[in-house]
Amino acid sequence: MALIEINKVVPGMILEKPVSVYSKGAKELLKKGLVLEEKHIKKLKQWDVKSVYIETGEEENHWQMSEQNTLQELSDEAYSITKECVEEIFNSIYCNEKVKSSSIERSVNRLFEVITINKDVLMLLAQLKKSEKYLFEHCIDVCVNSLVLAKYLRVQKEDLIDLGIAAICHDISLPNFDRAKWDFNPFSTPDGEIKNHPTKSCELLEKVEGISQRTLRIVREHHEFLDGSGFPCGLSNDQIDFLSFPLIISEVYLMYTSPMNEENQILPHQAVREIFSQKNKIIPKVMKAFLSNVAIYPIGSVVQLSNGEIGKIIGSNPNKPFRPQVKILYNSDHAQITKPYIIDLSSKKYSSTYIEREVRNL
Ligand SMILES: [Fe+2]
Ligand SMILES: [Fe+2]
Repeated sequence: MALIEINKVVPGMILEKPVSVYSKGAKELLKKGLVLEEKHIKKLKQWDVKSVYIETGEEENHWQMSEQNTLQELSDEAYSITKECVEEIFNSIYCNEKVKSSSIERSVNRLFEVITINKDVLMLLAQLKKSEKYLFEHCIDVCVNSLVLAKYLRVQKEDLIDLGIAAICHDISLPNFDRAKWDFNPFSTPDGEIKNHPTKSCELLEKVEGISQRTLRIVREHHEFLDGSGFPCGLSNDQIDFLSFPLIISEVYLMYTSPMNEENQILPHQAVREIFSQKNKIIPKVMKAFLSNVAIYPIGSVVQLSNGEIGKIIGSNPNKPFRPQVKILYNSDHAQITKPYIIDLSSKKYSSTYIEREVRNL
C-alpha cells in the first residue's frame, strides 16, 4: 500500500482504502478495491482530494508502525491544508475581501475525511502543534475535536458542515482583543469586552458569502452553558442548539490543554476531570461522547504507572479513556528494560494498575 499524490494517480491503479467526501450536503464514496478510471481520477480532483491509498501488493510487515506513519502523514497533510485555508479566510476577513463558505467547506471536508479514517488522528494532531500561530492551531484543533464528537453522536451530514465551519471560525474576532486576555478559565465569564468575542465573531462571519444561520448561531453560543452560567447571553437548556455542544466542550478542553500562554496549561487528564466536575453545564449525551473520544493520554506521551513502571502510550481504548495501551520501557527501579513489552490497561489482568502521572522529562 502506498499513499500517492493525486497528480501521480493513473487509470488502472486500485484503491486500497475507501475515499469519502461530503459534497453539497451528500456523502460520495469510492470503495476499497475500485480499479480507478479516468472519470474517478477527475472526480477525486474535483473533490480536492490531495492523495489516495493505492494497492501495491507489498506486505506490511510492521503494520502497527506503518499505520502510525500513515496517520502521521495524513494528519500533517490535513493540518497544513486546513491551516492554509484558515489563514486565507482570516486574511480575507481582515482585509474586507469577499470570502465564500465553499472554501471553508473544502477544509472541513478534508478534516472530516481524515477523521473518518481513524480517530487516533486526533491524538496525533494534538502533538503537531509547535511554533505555529496560536489562533490558527486552536481553531483547527477545536474543529477536529468538534467533528469527532459530532460524528460519534451520529449528527446528520449537512449539520456536520455547519458545525465544522462554525468551529473553524468561532474565535475569528480574537485578534481585535488584547492578547493578554485570550486565556481565561473556560468555566468563568472573563472580565471586560472579551466576553463579547462570540458576538463579534458572528458579525465578522456575516460577511462570508453563503454562511448559514445555523453556523452563525453555533459561533454565537460557543461559550454558553446548559445551566445558564455561560456568556455572552447566559442562555440555558433548550435555548442552546444541541449542535453547539460539541464545540462548547471542545473549546473548554482546548482552552485548558492548549492555552496561548503555556503557563496556564493543564494536562489532558486534569482537564477531563475539571470538565467532568461541571456535568450540569454540558448535555449528558455530549459529555459521554467527549469522555469516550477525548485524547486523555495522547499517543507518544510518557506515563508512570502505580507499580512504578514507566512507559509510552501507544493506543487508546475508546470505552475506557483512562485505560490506554502502554509500552513499558522502564521497570519500577527506573532502569531501562532491554525488551520493552506492551500492556493493555483495559484488560482485567491489569485492573489494579493505573496511571499515576504523566512524565514530562524522562
Ligand atoms: Fe472562544
Ligand atoms: Fe476558541
